[in-house]
Amino acid sequence: MRSVLAAVAVAAVLLAARAGSAQESSAGEHLFATCQACHSLDPAKRGMAGPHLAGLSGRRVGTAEGFDYSPALRAAGAQGLSWDEDRLKAYLADPEGMFKGSWMSAPGLAREADRAAVADFLMRQR
Ligand code: HEC
Repeated sequence: MRSVLAAVAVAAVLLAARAGSAQESSAGEHLFATCQACHSLDPAKRGMAGPHLAGLSGRRVGTAEGFDYSPALRAAGAQGLSWDEDRLKAYLADPEGMFKGSWMSAPGLAREADRAAVADFLMRQR
């Protein structure tokens, strides 16, 4: 009986922990599902339409290993531009406006709250 109670207690703690982390990330993570048609969070995954977005915080623009970027993104990276939360939010507001001639055909996100949620989520992915 004791061990059953202990197991129930452990399960309850695990569930609570999962609910906590899900609440924090749910909006951004949920929205990121639309990006995952083209972007992975796994650096080892190749063959997607877009570069992987793992460890994006502080990463230089256009430098995911193994991805063939447009000249527009390579030029931005060569100028030393790197990703932070504000740049990502601005990019998602108007991808083509930030990098003329970029190959990302997706339009970004129309709602400011959505951009903030996705940017927050991506900045926390290592
Ligand atoms: C239809 C496919 C597609 C979708 C959907 C898409 N992207 Fe992209 N994305 C790309 C491509 C292709 C590039 C590379 C662009 C280039 O080389 O000019 C890119 C580039 C990026 C970059 C620059 C990465 C780097 O290494 O500098 C970020 C950040 C990004 N996308 C974020 C997002 C987010 C966030 C979403 C969802 C809101 C999204 N993308 C949706 C195709 C897509």
